[in-house]
Amino acid sequence: MIALTLGEIATITGGTLVNSDGTELVTGGVEYDSRKVGPGGLFVAFAGEKVDGHEFGPEVVEAGAAGVLGTRDAGVPGVVVEDQLAALAKLAQEALERLPELTVVGLTGSSGKTTTKDYIGQLLSRLGPTVAPAGSLNNELGFPYTVLQADEKTRFLVLEMGARGIGHIRYLTGIARPSIGVVLNVGAAHIGEFGSVEGTALAKGELVEALPATGVAVLNADDPLVAAMASRTGARVLLVGEAEGAGLRAEDVSVDGAGRASYVLRNGLDRGDVRLGVAGRHQVANTLAAAAVALTAGMAFADLVTALGEVGIVSGRRMDVFERADGVTVVDDSYNANPSSTAAALHALAAMGAGKRTTAVLGYMAELGEHEVPGHAEVGRLAAELGVDRLIAVAENARPILDGAAEVSGWRGTAHLAADQAAAIEILQDDLRADDVVLVKGSRYRTWDVADWLRRPEEVQPT
Ligand SMILES: Nc1ncnc2c1ncn2[C@@H]1O[C@H](COP(=O)(O)OP(=O)(O)OP(=O)(O)O)[C@@H](O)[C@H]1O
Ligand SMILES: [Mg+2]
Repeated sequence: MIALTLGEIATITGGTLVNSDGTELVTGGVEYDSRKVGPGGLFVAFAGEKVDGHEFGPEVVEAGAAGVLGTRDAGVPGVVVEDQLAALAKLAQEALERLPELTVVGLTGSSGKTTTKDYIGQLLSRLGPTVAPAGSLNNELGFPYTVLQADEKTRFLVLEMGARGIGHIRYLTGIARPSIGVVLNVGAAHIGEFGSVEGTALAKGELVEALPATGVAVLNADDPLVAAMASRTGARVLLVGEAEGAGLRAEDVSVDGAGRASYVLRNGLDRGDVRLGVAGRHQVANTLAAAAVALTAGMAFADLVTALGEVGIVSGRRMDVFERADGVTVVDDSYNANPSSTAAALHALAAMGAGKRTTAVLGYMAELGEHEVPGHAEVGRLAAELGVDRLIAVAENARPILDGAAEVSGWRGTAHLAADQAAAIEILQDDLRADDVVLVKGSRYRTWDVADWLRRPEEVQPT
């Protein structure tokens, strides 16, 4: 973070100084987890249901923190504000005002934001110091928190933007206005809150509306609702995808037996062979979006082609493929799930499973609203159509997955309903073979134990 005194922080946030003459200098990072606050850091204290962060004030200051930002006096130098999130937003705005040279990249979409943010981070790091922290920091807390990691040395700031409703992305762009904005896709994620994919598109499009005329909107040419956002921006539009109309295109896409895609990248007269090291055909779209950002930021085409082949998974539980000592291949995609990301993962499983036995352990997909039952059934149907050998639905609310699979005549796989994760682990434990490829996917914690057990069977015991 740029250096600020507690006095400046009080002025910027409209807060009140406590136990301080305002001269304490914040030189370290801003953290809301007391264990992460380092020397010269600013600790943002939240009063949670179980723990009140303000109580850690003395501890963090003892450990070297410059002060605490909270809603009450924590007994140490600090700034008291009415609302920590609003204060963080103001600090982030001010920080960016003081960093006019910084290139800000924002990206949104229903699936693949974190994955693609990590790719953009890896590519831009080759051009200069880049802030693109691992994880999914896309809300009113994580977003300003990310912005505040930039300082005078930073050249690129990559920001993930999440939307659970209309106006959310507009709020985020009010904190940090990107000059390069990327919209990946509009799928069924959080559809329960938006009501329809059109509603989702309306919300995601707020990103390109906020771009300056000198900016660049990177839009997925293969997603009609995203491509249509071209009319909602004054920025230059760069369409990316496999469609004819895309300015930056992937041609001749193929997927190898490890689920990794190769393609010919074309940008005008430039063309190069890209061989991805990350699994899943959907990574074509993600890497194309990241490539567009890198080109816009000044990366040479030949360097880009090489760099794309070297991007890897940074944030865990997203298409994290590993092979166990016993030969079993695991695809840990358990971070989150919706029908489109599950479809992408099932396609990857099928590609990786040629000549092997495939197992899909699928948990409940949250936030689908009235699309819940059809959404689960659709995923089950696809699993069966792709010929998954074993389909394990985890928990009663995931049962419609099995119902969907049962509709596919001629499917020869087996269907299991596991009452909970421990039961799913038992099914796997009883029958694992060296030629197995196992996909694990669900919304959040719902299948994490299964993935962790597959990774470290000796440490994670079925409960
Ligand atoms: N382009 C894509 N299309 C479909 N699924 C994708 C795509 N990219 C990534 N995924 C899958 O979507 C899931 C979520 O990925 P990721 O965390 O990158 O997305 P996100 O948009 O950041 O999600 P969140 O809304 O939880 O922040 C993972 O299972 C990942 O493999
Ligand atoms: Mg994310």
